[in-house]
Amino acid sequence: MTNQFKLVSALLCLAFGSSLLSTNNVSASHGSVSFTSVPEQTQERPAEQAYKNIQVFKGLTESQLLGAMNFMTGALGVGCFHCHTNQFASDDKLAKQTARRMIQMMRTINQTDFGDKLAVNCYTCHQGHVKPAVAPVSRPGSDAMTSKTETMPSVDEILNKYSDALGGKAKIETIKSVAMKGTETAQTGSDPSSTRQLEIFRKSPNKLLVVFIQQGNSMFQAFDGKIGWRKNGERVSDLGGMDMALARGEANIFKDIDLRPQFANMALVGKSRISNRDVYIVEGTLSDDRAEKRLLGINTEWLYFDVQTGLLVRRILEWKTVLGPLQSITDLEDYVSIDGLKIPSTLRTLRPPTTLIQKFTEIKLNTSIGDEIFNKPDVKK
Ligand code: HEC
Ligand code: HEC
Repeated sequence: MTNQFKLVSALLCLAFGSSLLSTNNVSASHGSVSFTSVPEQTQERPAEQAYKNIQVFKGLTESQLLGAMNFMTGALGVGCFHCHTNQFASDDKLAKQTARRMIQMMRTINQTDFGDKLAVNCYTCHQGHVKPAVAPVSRPGSDAMTSKTETMPSVDEILNKYSDALGGKAKIETIKSVAMKGTETAQTGSDPSSTRQLEIFRKSPNKLLVVFIQQGNSMFQAFDGKIGWRKNGERVSDLGGMDMALARGEANIFKDIDLRPQFANMALVGKSRISNRDVYIVEGTLSDDRAEKRLLGINTEWLYFDVQTGLLVRRILEWKTVLGPLQSITDLEDYVSIDGLKIPSTLRTLRPPTTLIQKFTEIKLNTSIGDEIFNKPDVKK
């Protein structure tokens, strides 16, 4: 028995250098490892002769087989016993059966789409993890950590602290309108970024007018409480689909302030860090009247609150595309105090492939704004 073990180790060393010995989990503690006895010989035998239960790796030599085994441990970030019991020939572990299917799949992909080159392998997908990542951004909350000794606040405590940090309930109730001026910079992929002037007018409870000004031309986008419209030059059109959903959501003047009604459920996921600041992560299930839910099928949003200041610093919405989940991340930064109310003066939204940065240099609370600016302009046909 010990002899056989030595031989396997020797083969592993031979094929991959002694540094890989540490991944060789065929350790003495698993003393009953049983290999078909491999006679000492210079000519290696095919794996199917050397071992008992070779189905997909027929034709490999013994050392090639063990090389493949080592590769799989590295690609998945596991040891040998993720797939094996101490009877290496046994198919008892589901992971071993899955691995066989994966090997077949990998071959099919390479044969049919890559001219039989080894273009795709276990690592392409697994990258050192048993479960490959399915989204371009790591799932919110997956980095959450909470020490056992720490007492965590309730969601209500977090929301109350947020409301106090903004200026308090009484102050919040006085909000009738907000007028903001600044710039919006869009960066898409490696394209040069473009910047335009931006003016946003909001009136309680849900009227919104956004004006983009670029090279003297103004573009309007609005929601009058019922419908959304857009005006570009002389052309006026109704907003539909995704644009409408987003405009409706944006139009709620309390969108980033009164969070509770926007969710059917809210739960604390844990603590994490954003650029060296501790944050609480709250996961919310969107309430049925959220436009993002009805029109885009978005179910979940994550809210990040600064532990110290209590302020909301990040919102992440996740929607399903046919290729997988995609996240839209908005950071609320540079809070300023306007007449006793805290308002973020920078909004940074990352929605692949575009990053939008809105910076506001002028923010006015409760100036009088007439209803008419939100109404769809008449167009002569
Ligand atoms: C991801 C799963 C996976 C991991 C990890 C893995 N193996 Fe395997 N192993 C397999 C599969 C699948 C087979 C069967 C291959 C076939 O059907 O051709 C196999 C077969 C074997 C065999 C042949 C057994 C026999 O008698 O049929 C040996 C020996 C073996 N593995 C050793 C190892 C060692 C040593 C490690 C760690 C360095 C390891 N394996 C890691 C999946 C794995
Ligand atoms: C095209 C992408 C892709 C490739 C290539 C791929 N895998 Fe996977 N593998 C996956 C996905 C996705 C899952 C998880 C499926 C799920 O969530 O249930 C998975 C699951 C597995 C599992 C089960 C996980 C567990 O719980 O133990 C094993 C084992 C595995 N893969 C082994 C391999 C091995 C070995 C290779 C290379 C021969 C490989 N995979 C190549 C995508 C891939």
